[in-house]
Amino acid sequence: MSDITRTTERDSADTMETNGADTAERADAASVGIGDDSATGRSSTTTGETDERVLEEWREYEFEGDAKFAVEDLDVHYGDDHALNGVSIEIPKNSVTALIGPSGCGKSTFLRCLNRMNDRIKSARVDGSVRIDDEEIYQDGVNLVELRKRVGMVFQSPNPFPKSIRENIAYGPEKHGDIDTGLLARLLNRSDDAERDRLVERCLRDAALWEEVNDRLDDNALGLSGGQQQRLCIARCLSVDPEVILMDEPASALDPIATAKIEDLIDDLAEEYTVVIVTHNMQQAARISDQTAVFLTGGELVEYGDTDQVFEDPHSERVEDYITGKFG
Ligand SMILES: Nc1ncnc2c1ncn2[C@@H]1O[C@H](COP(=O)(O)OP(=O)(O)O)[C@@H](O)[C@H]1O
Ligand SMILES: [Mg+2]
Repeated sequence: MSDITRTTERDSADTMETNGADTAERADAASVGIGDDSATGRSSTTTGETDERVLEEWREYEFEGDAKFAVEDLDVHYGDDHALNGVSIEIPKNSVTALIGPSGCGKSTFLRCLNRMNDRIKSARVDGSVRIDDEEIYQDGVNLVELRKRVGMVFQSPNPFPKSIRENIAYGPEKHGDIDTGLLARLLNRSDDAERDRLVERCLRDAALWEEVNDRLDDNALGLSGGQQQRLCIARCLSVDPEVILMDEPASALDPIATAKIEDLIDDLAEEYTVVIVTHNMQQAARISDQTAVFLTGGELVEYGDTDQVFEDPHSERVEDYITGKFG
């Protein structure tokens, strides 16, 4: 099946409920390639979002300082389904990068490529290159445990362990042997309990949760509110000293107050960490990110640049339509 046909089908599914008639017209025009203007990349018709040619310069983004990630020609297939299509992008250090785009366009897939989480999905095939600080992560011999310590991840639904708040934070460092609070260590009087307490406090403070929970560190984490649980998951992620924090719609299950706290926190985290966040909330992306990458149907990176530029003056007409709410 050709790309354009598939894109059109997806698009149809997205818009079916609201404007079925318009979609039929759009599908026809797209399938015969009407309105392709290769000089500008802009469509000469108003028939929709599928007949625009993406230009290289829409994705060129020059920034100061070092790139944390350099991604080249990244393709991901799930079986026959082409979920990510030739994505190349450089992501700057110590900043917030937002990934936006309609549902199913490959945002989560892309995020998972950054710490090889897609390795866990049987049907997934990843081609291309992802370098962190100039080190290729898609090569033999890469230690995935170390990689995922460096590149931590926070998911849409908070997923604390059904353990105490303290144990949630200490779990990673204990497991990796960075601190030892085990029975043998205690019997030999070499236990790092004080070290653990310092770590727990530091991570909870860095995740803006300490003030709310310091009097109940031994309570079960599942008793916390959703927003607190999500900050706990961020604290847990910080406990193994990551360099990068990937967040996949971290606030989409939270109320506005809890969301605002997460957004403030992300802003603070970017001073020390590289944050890459998927969000379907456009205002959120505009508020919290330094640069924005827009993915559209077909798993294509269509536009990437300074967040103000992408939101106020996008090059792509489809991106403009998406941002202004015409589809997606
Ligand atoms: N584990 C998976 N197995 C098979 N297909 C998947 C899997 N995850 C995602 N996909 C497919 O890949 C495409 C991109 O999905 P995803 O990355 O989740 O998009 P987004 O996060 O932008 O909504 C979709 O067509 C989706 O159905
Ligand atoms: Mg997703």
